[in-house]
Amino acid sequence: EKIKAFRRTLLAWYDANKRDLPWRVDRNAYHVLVSELMLQQTQVQTVIPYYQRFITQMPTVQALADAPEAQVMKAWEGLGYYSRARNLQKAAKQLIRDYGGVWPHTVQELQQLAGIGPYTAGAIASIAFDQVEPAIDGNAFRVFARLFCIPDDIAQPKTRAVFDRLIRQVIDPKRPGDFNQAIMDLGASYMSAKDPDPKHSPVAAFDASWQTGRVLDFP
Ligand code: ADE
Repeated sequence: EKIKAFRRTLLAWYDANKRDLPWRVDRNAYHVLVSELMLQQTQVQTVIPYYQRFITQMPTVQALADAPEAQVMKAWEGLGYYSRARNLQKAAKQLIRDYGGVWPHTVQELQQLAGIGPYTAGAIASIAFDQVEPAIDGNAFRVFARLFCIPDDIAQPKTRAVFDRLIRQVIDPKRPGDFNQAIMDLGASYMSAKDPDPKHSPVAAFDASWQTGRVLDFP
């Protein structure tokens, strides 16, 4: 019951307050992939104009697969970590060659594509395909560590499994993509790393670290 109340509260807040971001206007897997790769090492506000330019120049997986490599790198220029751009085009070519341009829906298959690890696979599967999969990046680690006062060191490889198991119990089975994105928005606002505001958080009542005065013990 408490988990259901948490989901309901979180998603009601998300519906009313979600950030208006260009990759949220639809649930196209290609849009999710491009945005998530850009967001891995770059702030949301910086990503927005790059994302819009990239999608305008290469609007589909096919267009990206067919584009000259120089055009892809040029569109990425300024974002850094250029292996992301090379992997992105490689993933597009794999999708065309191995899947005839039809996206696989499972995280196992998505992780076979270049540059797609557990986080990105979970984001695409949940947001684009309604698969009940967690998308655990650094922000999600922090948000769940605080909500449940999980002391495990996230630098330890086995910690991912601890969070994975927990989030699978909490994630909304009907709206997994929105649930994951609501966690991202919480992590960027009331439950941020450096400047959190747990007192006014929509899920303060479910936040064990806030209830016990230990918010900053879970960075
Ligand atoms: N950070 C990583 N992925 C994101 C998303 N889909 N929306 C907002 N911030 C994000």
